Amino acid sequence: MLLDGKKGVVFGIANKRSLAWVIARRTVEEGASLALTYQGERIEDNVRELAESLNDPLIMPCDVTRDDEIEAVFTQIKEKMGGLDFMVHAVAAARREELDGEFVNTSRDGYLFAQEVSSYSLTAMTRYAAPLMAGRPGSILALTYLGGERVIPHYNVMGVAKAALDMSVRYLAADLGPQGIRVNALSAGPIKTLSSAGIKGFSRILDHMKDRAPLRRNVDQAEVADAALFLLSNMSRGVTGETLHVDSGYHIVGM
Ligand SMILES: NC(=O)c1ccc[n+]([C@@H]2O[C@H](COP(=O)([O-])OP(=O)(O)OC[C@H]3O[C@@H](n4cnc5c(N)ncnc54)[C@H](O)[C@@H]3O)[C@@H](O)[C@H]2O)c1
Repeated sequence: MLLDGKKGVVFGIANKRSLAWVIARRTVEEGASLALTYQGERIEDNVRELAESLNDPLIMPCDVTRDDEIEAVFTQIKEKMGGLDFMVHAVAAARREELDGEFVNTSRDGYLFAQEVSSYSLTAMTRYAAPLMAGRPGSILALTYLGGERVIPHYNVMGVAKAALDMSVRYLAADLGPQGIRVNALSAGPIKTLSSAGIKGFSRILDHMKDRAPLRRNVDQAEVADAALFLLSNMSRGVTGETLHVDSGYHIVGM
């Protein structure tokens, strides 16, 4: 098993469609023990119900805009798990109105909100995770999207947040590489989830990808989970600061 005896924390489960959920389940299949977090009481029941099929994970609340909640998560992981081998950041949010219109109309508040939740949170979390990875070959993974590299209709402020997230991955990889901690991004193709449902015209994006991607199809959650497993495990031990596209090759197409 690829993660036998490894300990991890996964941020970003909302329901059974969440990329964080399929990644969490896949890591447990490969022998990992987990801590999971949920954003607020509205989601807690979902996460606890899903977690019943895992191996008794540590479950904690965490709103990533709150430093005290981030700190509490890692304090509990230290006390109850004794250390950490991997962390998954699958958290993103933007205000609905910023995704409906044109990017040029992005409000200051909407811009800062998307950056805080979807980008800065990785750096804040990594600062607490890194000391728990001391002496281990740690692996940190962030979920990103092509909308941070190219213009995708209605991705708007979220695309700019993903660009910042992608660059944060590289700076964090450079900072933490000397400690043996790797930081990578997985750029998933469009998949129907709670978050992606908020993007206007999302089904058109799915159809377009099916017509134009080299593999002529969309990707599914299981394919994202398998690639995440590669990046979290020793199989990718020579890889850091990388963005791995799991998108049927769509990102290479110019015309
Ligand atoms: N679904 C796609 O098409 C797609 C493609 C590429 C990348 N991604 C990325 O994958 C990641 C997971 O998204 P998903 O598609 O599984 O959707 P999702 O809605 O299931 O997951 C998003 C998660 O972010 C969490 N979140 C939002 N604000 C938060 C906050 N303040 N504190 C803590 N958690 C917060 C939500 O609770 C939710 O669990 C995101 O980073 C997303 O941008 C998704």
